[in-house]
Amino acid sequence: MTFLVTGATGNVGRNVVELLLAAGVPVRATSRSPETAGLPAGVDVRAGDLDDPGSFGDALSGVERLFLFPHPAGVAGFLDLAKASGVRQVVLLSSAAVRESANPIGLMHLSVEEAVRGSGLGWTMLRPGAFASNTLQWAPAIRAGDEVAIPYAESTVSPVHEREIAAVAVQALLSGGHDGATYDVTGPESMTQRRQAELIAAATGRPVTVTDLVGEAARAQLERQYGAFGVPGLVDSVLATYTASVGTDAPLTDTVTRVTGRPPTPFAAWAAEHRTAFGAA
Ligand SMILES: NC(=O)c1ccc[n+]([C@@H]2O[C@H](COP(=O)([O-])OP(=O)(O)OC[C@H]3O[C@@H](n4cnc5c(N)ncnc54)[C@H](OP(=O)(O)O)[C@@H]3O)[C@@H](O)[C@H]2O)c1
Repeated sequence: MTFLVTGATGNVGRNVVELLLAAGVPVRATSRSPETAGLPAGVDVRAGDLDDPGSFGDALSGVERLFLFPHPAGVAGFLDLAKASGVRQVVLLSSAAVRESANPIGLMHLSVEEAVRGSGLGWTMLRPGAFASNTLQWAPAIRAGDEVAIPYAESTVSPVHEREIAAVAVQALLSGGHDGATYDVTGPESMTQRRQAELIAAATGRPVTVTDLVGEAARAQLERQYGAFGVPGLVDSVLATYTASVGTDAPLTDTVTRVTGRPPTPFAAWAAEHRTAFGAA
């Protein structure tokens, strides 16, 4: 039985590929640019663009279970094709944002979840909160001058290591008992974004100065960050999420421990693993 990983070049998808390979099962992976995907030897890398399900060619042949990257355009056609090719189970990368009714990213994820639920295939939904790797957006500033400006630095997250989202996905792909399950996936601790920057400083051995952006300054920074996506309401919903979380604990779940049998990695360990990206020698 071949396992297909879509979005295989992404933060989560690469880890899904590696964990499936480590489990010793046949792995096929798709990318819009298979020639530059940089995936490990032993992976059968094919072309596939979820905007155009026909681009998958015979990449679905022999596949029974697949990891689905959340891409709304073309998803219904892709799922029809998958079902016709003999796929039986989909593990979807979704998002905790589905619970925020005014969040356009959440609505996008909800539409993909609905397509998967209506596909007639077996499914498992993964709804992670903030990825630990979101802090890599600070890396250029920290490398350049040990200073970083963070919109609502006192807002809280429970950052999850992308490898552990992948580990939950792989467990669902490899073993039975996860059909129809929806998993909220978080890291082990709630912390402020400021604390994340402090832990990055500790991991790199260099000081990091945080500028806390609030109000219009936060909005301007988020416009720069997300404006290019052209998604109406996105900046407003990110601001609403940040401001609502200040002074509260971010949600925590035991999904990683329950599904994989191992506790999730603390953010400090993620930061140590990625310290060179932030300028550590
Ligand atoms: N960051 C967070 O805190 C967070 C939290 C919850 C959920 N999420 C969701 O997780 C997703 C991001 O996951 P990630 O970080 O693993 O990905 P990523 O590192 O942002 O990489 C993007 C992936 O999307 C693939 N892709 C883009 N357009 C595609 C298309 N038309 N057809 C097929 N593949 C396409 C790319 O593949 P190629 O370029 O190789 O084709 C690449 O593998 C987003 O949907 C986000 O909303 C993120």
